[in-house]
Amino acid sequence: MNISSEKAEFKDGKFETVVIGLFEGADLPSGYVKQLDQALGGTIEDLVINRKFKCTLNQTHLIYTRGMKTGRILLIGLGKYDQFNTEKVRSASGNAALKIKEYNTNSYAVLVFGEGCNVPINDIIQDLVFGAELSLYSFDRYKTKIDREKVDVDKLVILVNKHENFSIAKRSIIAATSVVDGVKVARDLSNMPGNYCTPTILANVALDISRKHGLACKILESRDISRLKMGGLMGVSSGSREPPKLIVLEYRGGNTNEKPVVLVGKAVTFDSGGISIKPADKMEQMKHDKSGGTTVIGTMQAVADLKLPLNLVGIVPVTENLLGGDSYRPGDVLTFYKGKTAEIINTDAEGRLILADAISYSLDYKPQAIVDLATLTGACVIALGNVASGLFSNNDELRDRIVRAGEYTGERVWEFPLWKEYSEQIKSDVADIKNTGGRGGGAITAAAFISEFVENYPWVHLDIAGTAWVQDNSMGKSYLPKGATGVGVRLLTQMLQNWKKLSSNS
Ligand code: BES
Ligand code: MN
Ligand code: ZN
Repeated sequence: MNISSEKAEFKDGKFETVVIGLFEGADLPSGYVKQLDQALGGTIEDLVINRKFKCTLNQTHLIYTRGMKTGRILLIGLGKYDQFNTEKVRSASGNAALKIKEYNTNSYAVLVFGEGCNVPINDIIQDLVFGAELSLYSFDRYKTKIDREKVDVDKLVILVNKHENFSIAKRSIIAATSVVDGVKVARDLSNMPGNYCTPTILANVALDISRKHGLACKILESRDISRLKMGGLMGVSSGSREPPKLIVLEYRGGNTNEKPVVLVGKAVTFDSGGISIKPADKMEQMKHDKSGGTTVIGTMQAVADLKLPLNLVGIVPVTENLLGGDSYRPGDVLTFYKGKTAEIINTDAEGRLILADAISYSLDYKPQAIVDLATLTGACVIALGNVASGLFSNNDELRDRIVRAGEYTGERVWEFPLWKEYSEQIKSDVADIKNTGGRGGGAITAAAFISEFVENYPWVHLDIAGTAWVQDNSMGKSYLPKGATGVGVRLLTQMLQNWKKLSSNS
């Protein structure tokens, strides 16, 4: 979508469709809205003053004009003024965009919501862009019949009143667009089915993105992975004909001697469970088991486009988890990159095995911080539902940054304890550790397994099993259409936009 900003001066016929956000119980704003309402002969004032339109959040009312060239005016409620925040901007902007699409209109203008309120204007504009772009996202590349009656909404003009906000608006639109593009990359790749997005194809896409966005990219092939003795990644991939890959993307925006932040993302292009096979019900959703990795790829692209002043490395172990004559088995012992061993109890607990190798590999960069993302456990979905991602950490400062970015972006996280008692559950009789910890605390014992590989580096693990795609109890947000959400891209970019060295070290 083409998004631009303009000075808010009402001129009839300049736009076919205009969206106006209004606060509950507030007077009609002066300036643009008053001018527009004059042209309408007072319709908006009548609706608002007489409480025919209450302006509760996301309530809409469409005015078809008479005798005007501006054909439609969509009013959207923003709720109470003192409860206004960035989530409401995304939500209302998304709902407005979906209405516009319903009207079969290809372009529209939005008067910036709440200009002059205490939410910073750059955030409001950024979230207007997020709401519109992310709600209109659709994944239909495998549909052969597209509805030719429906037009695409391809142009949005954001109208800004205050002169001093013009340059901010321009910059915010550009920045938000880079982030949106990253989210779309993550969503597209996560939505791709297992037969179209194999490990090889995912690696090729990452390579292609790295060329277009100025990242360094290295793909470790099957032979490199076995030469480096990454037994976790090799073991999980052994039941598949598709060779595993380790994607390494590097972005250098900081000083050459500055240590990087590393992002590690689980990418299982399809998780059948392996020999410990999953039940058939909803197994098709396991094409999304690569979402941690696809979020890392999308975030790397966004950070490169934003030219952020830091060094960042993205590491994505990619494999299928299938079953066959060469599969790894329950009872097997695998040896990871740095020599630690694990007994396999359940081949469906595969994510932690490939993360163990990838995180161990990331330590070779001596990172200032490690953040890993993975659709790791059903137990996390039981605990938190589809509302927040699980967070596990060994570093309070890094944790706080992610929690803050989570509140801010609406990609919320909730911390679980990582007390050493939980590590008792993954002790093995035959190897250093085992890959499952019994029924209790499944999300935590999975995190405890990963923690064995981070040494003393500041680390956060995000279990995105409940948030990576829209599931039964996902929140019905306008900007989260069915399928992959791209969760983590906005969260991580937000954190990295304000990145400063951590003062504490673990
Ligand atoms: N990819 C799954 C976790 C998952 C399940 C994500 C449902 C999203 C929705 C992971 O590889 C897995 O199978 N985990 C097992 C671990 C168990 C065997 C210890 C699980 O959660 O059941
Ligand atoms: Mn699994
Ligand atoms: Zn999995």
